Amino acid sequence: MRLSLRFLIPLALVLGLVAYAVVPLANRMMVSWFVNDLDLRSKIIAEAVDNYLLEVSPNKSQLVITAKVQNFFKRVMLDERVYALGFCDATGQKLLFKTDKFPQIISCEPVGTETHVTEVLDQPRGPLHIAYHVVRGTGSVLGELVLIHDMSFVQSRSAATRLYIMYFFAALAAIIAIITVLIAQMSLRGWESGLRSLLRGEGLFKPFSPTGAPRELQPIVKDLRDLIRDLETDRRLRDESQITWNARTLKELLHKELAGDEVIVVSNREPYLNYFGEDGTIQTQTPAAGPVTALEPIMRACSGTWIAHGGGAADHETVDARDHLRIPPDHPRYTLRRVWLTPEEEKGYYYGFANEGLWPLCHIAHVRPTFRSDDWEQYVRVNEKFAKVVAQEAKTRDPVILVQDYHFALLPRILRRHLPQATIIMFWHIPWPNPESFGICPWGQEVLDGLLGSNIVGFHTRFHCLNFMETMDRFVECRVDREHSTISYRRKLTAVNHYPISIEFPGRLMRQATPVPEARAQIRNRYALPADCRIGIGVDRFDYTKGIMEKFLAVERLLELSPEWIGRFSFIQIAAPTRTRIEEYTEFSNETSSLAQRINAKFAHTGVPPIILLAEHHEAEDILDHYRAADLCFVNSLHDGMNLVAKEFVAARDDERGALILSQFTGAARDLPEALIVNPYHIDQCAQELHRALTMPESEQRDRLRSMRGVLKEFNVFRWAGRMLIDAARVRQRNRFLARVAATPWYSSFLPK
Ligand code: G6P
Repeated sequence: MRLSLRFLIPLALVLGLVAYAVVPLANRMMVSWFVNDLDLRSKIIAEAVDNYLLEVSPNKSQLVITAKVQNFFKRVMLDERVYALGFCDATGQKLLFKTDKFPQIISCEPVGTETHVTEVLDQPRGPLHIAYHVVRGTGSVLGELVLIHDMSFVQSRSAATRLYIMYFFAALAAIIAIITVLIAQMSLRGWESGLRSLLRGEGLFKPFSPTGAPRELQPIVKDLRDLIRDLETDRRLRDESQITWNARTLKELLHKELAGDEVIVVSNREPYLNYFGEDGTIQTQTPAAGPVTALEPIMRACSGTWIAHGGGAADHETVDARDHLRIPPDHPRYTLRRVWLTPEEEKGYYYGFANEGLWPLCHIAHVRPTFRSDDWEQYVRVNEKFAKVVAQEAKTRDPVILVQDYHFALLPRILRRHLPQATIIMFWHIPWPNPESFGICPWGQEVLDGLLGSNIVGFHTRFHCLNFMETMDRFVECRVDREHSTISYRRKLTAVNHYPISIEFPGRLMRQATPVPEARAQIRNRYALPADCRIGIGVDRFDYTKGIMEKFLAVERLLELSPEWIGRFSFIQIAAPTRTRIEEYTEFSNETSSLAQRINAKFAHTGVPPIILLAEHHEAEDILDHYRAADLCFVNSLHDGMNLVAKEFVAARDDERGALILSQFTGAARDLPEALIVNPYHIDQCAQELHRALTMPESEQRDRLRSMRGVLKEFNVFRWAGRMLIDAARVRQRNRFLARVAATPWYSSFLPK
């Protein structure tokens, strides 16, 4: 009703104004039509008089003429619109004859050549129309005819016409108003029913609901949905490829797409840990872990808060009262919030369920997963603990939360309870196994349910996304849409996307990198290697999934197959100690060391150890020197989500020299196919590729490295994070729209009953 009035009042005003302008105009036009009509009538009557008098001879006396004229006039006066008639003499001075009503105020006028017309106001009668007409007999002037019409009918007709015009406009206004109100009502009903369907999940947002749209509309709804998705994907890809990704563009993207929304990162491993040096002073270390390497530059760019386990012996000493620490230490840009775990929690959650259960389960690297109920309990407890900390740290109700890795499979679901409006992205840095392998996990259902609390689940490769969706399909009651890579579960949608992780390119450390010849000399010097000795490098955590033993066996085989390298090739393996409290790791480390010793003993006579095993942590600057000193880098994982060492080596070689040997079971092999790709289980093949790398012409090294560096330049870590944040922004846009709809006052009446 209010809507109708809001429309009708302006309509009435507009039409009133139009009528006000039109009525006088129409009146003037009508009067002029009537006057013209009277002029014409006067002329016709005068001509009739003329014709009649033609027969009258001018020689006849005036009396005869007047009598004849009188006679004719009687007939003319039968026309009721003629008011009076008069006849003047030939000079136009004397009125010879007049009818009864001939007004006194009208007199003869000097005879002119033509008929002329005038109007007078004869009070109280009203206006009169007077036509003077010269009457000619056969040649000479007989007299002057004065023809008077009453114009009062014009006035009455004009008043009637004005009234009709007003009626017309009023009727027009009423018709327009009725039609408009009807149309408005009809469209409102259409919109309401559309909205009803939408809220029931039958509209464009059907994926949120398992209920269907009417059968006959389903093809259209599907087409529209597909179109929207394609446009979104297209736009995303276009946006992405048009951006030169770096710290600045990522920051801009945060402001543009996410309006500077809060970003929280959660990972088990912290980016900086503190320990006590030998002299008792507090030292800082950057742990060797892929997620840390990748996320650190992102957090430098985005600020925000990073929540992680405070695992360093001196970690308590460096935080404030709220367990906060501003980092990086040399130039603080973001906040680290440390979470403390009890020894039981760490044992069960980190060493137990995460690293003895999920890690081997996902890597399928011939180490049996071990699942214990106690470990599971601690895993649940620690995930809940982290969720509480995230809720404490969140400054807004809807932060973007980037959850990292298999330590926090339950966190997305728990976070939903604390922060229902948060946008949660879970990134799974390790491989996802096939459903059969995953089925081993006794708490598989809980793990899958936990992960589906996320808006987006990310993997490095499409292959792992497919494994994940297949696992969901097999074990969870959900709808898996492989075409669009989404899982609909409990009326919520989770997107499953692949985002291949990468590194900062060019890296920060490259600005102060040691020149290659100098790095070579230093490293040779450090390990007492002769000047003609070629160097291979391997950098890993000391983990059984990394194929370290297979690398050593391949080096041994190389020396057997190509003895020219004996005493002229040394392979330096940096192996950062990790998860040392797990038996498999200590056993593995012992076995690997024994293997290195055995091989070195075999070639001890040369004075050049084929293998240099460095089982200790190395800082990033030192590792960079090793990369730059090497002739080849050997990455041999038995299974790896991505492997950033391969990318770091390529990024380190701005001289375009050196060769990369890369396991086919790493995600990196998909991004860097120009590497020498090997099967780590095929020792002979690895040995051959070692030889090929050592003999590779410089031009080939350059071509391969140039191509791989091009890939890294374009697909760097900022793009990895940027793509996820762009997707997060889309999710937020959609959710905000739905929230706006839900906030409308009449929403509740449309909810499905
Ligand atoms: C590797 C894996 C990561 C994992 C990390 C943990 O880098 O690729 O997915 O988070 O190891 O290492 P940590 O030493 O912290 O157990």
